[in-house]
Amino acid sequence: MAGSTLEIKNLHVSIEGNQILKGVNLTIKGGEFHAVMGPNGTGKSTLASAIMGHPKFEITEGSVYLDGEDVLEMEVDERARAGLFLGMQYPSEISGVTTSDFLRSSINARREEGDEISLMKFIKEMDAALDHLEIDKNMAQRYLNEGFSGGEKKRNEILQLMLIKPEIAILDEIDSGLDIDALKVVSKGINKLRDDNFGCLIITHYQRLLNYITPDKVHVMMQGRVVKSGGPELAKRLEAEGYDWIKEELGIEDESLEQKA
Ligand SMILES: Nc1ncnc2c1ncn2[C@@H]1O[C@H](COP(=O)(O)OP(=O)(O)OP(=O)(O)O)[C@@H](O)[C@H]1O
Ligand SMILES: [Mg+2]
Repeated sequence: MAGSTLEIKNLHVSIEGNQILKGVNLTIKGGEFHAVMGPNGTGKSTLASAIMGHPKFEITEGSVYLDGEDVLEMEVDERARAGLFLGMQYPSEISGVTTSDFLRSSINARREEGDEISLMKFIKEMDAALDHLEIDKNMAQRYLNEGFSGGEKKRNEILQLMLIKPEIAILDEIDSGLDIDALKVVSKGINKLRDDNFGCLIITHYQRLLNYITPDKVHVMMQGRVVKSGGPELAKRLEAEGYDWIKEELGIEDESLEQKA
């Protein structure tokens, strides 16, 4: 079988009693790049966190399956081992763990015991990825994300992505905070992974990123649901016209989506 399939069905998620996701349906297959766009606060990051198992998010209805396996039944580390990866909107700083050690143990966590990557091979792969992403080699010896600039943290997420080689990646605003050159470099890194065994969900506010990474599908999320899907032209229209036309097209007023749908 070529690649994995992540199937999100009718996903409802609440946080501290507030219903944030109200029935999200999305299927991502190996080889496909999907973009998710949508106004602030519509639940894009919530979707990413809920799929990865952040304990704050309560799944009240719906399902998430990876190749027929129930993701919602898995512990967080099991989800990563099963091949899911989240590039975070706000990567956290981990003091006391070097980037290099973190990467090596993340790679090994996805391998069988006794089949750990050799130090030589790891260093070779890490150096190649650092070169590819134009990251200073010294950064690998610094504590993970500690004191990194915003853009350096984002590059570091892609460094992890390139080395961990997940089946399905969710990249949450990987383009925010990147300078123009870094945006190209990071996009190049993501494009390098494009093959039948890799599927990707790219959350972004800007069409700009999609000039470098062509999505197969673009989805618009509003008020906790995917309300419209299309091809790359949909992102171009959003960039040009904003979101109002979608509300008009769907005949929804602000805040009234819940009643209509
Ligand atoms: N830990 C939390 N506690 C309380 N409310 C939360 C929490 N996390 C998210 N929310 C709320 O859930 C809603 C959706 O947030 P989310 O971060 O998913 O939005 P988003 O679509 O990613 O927005 P943005 O484009 O600004 O990143 C927001 O109203 C937010 O305030
Ligand atoms: Mg967000």
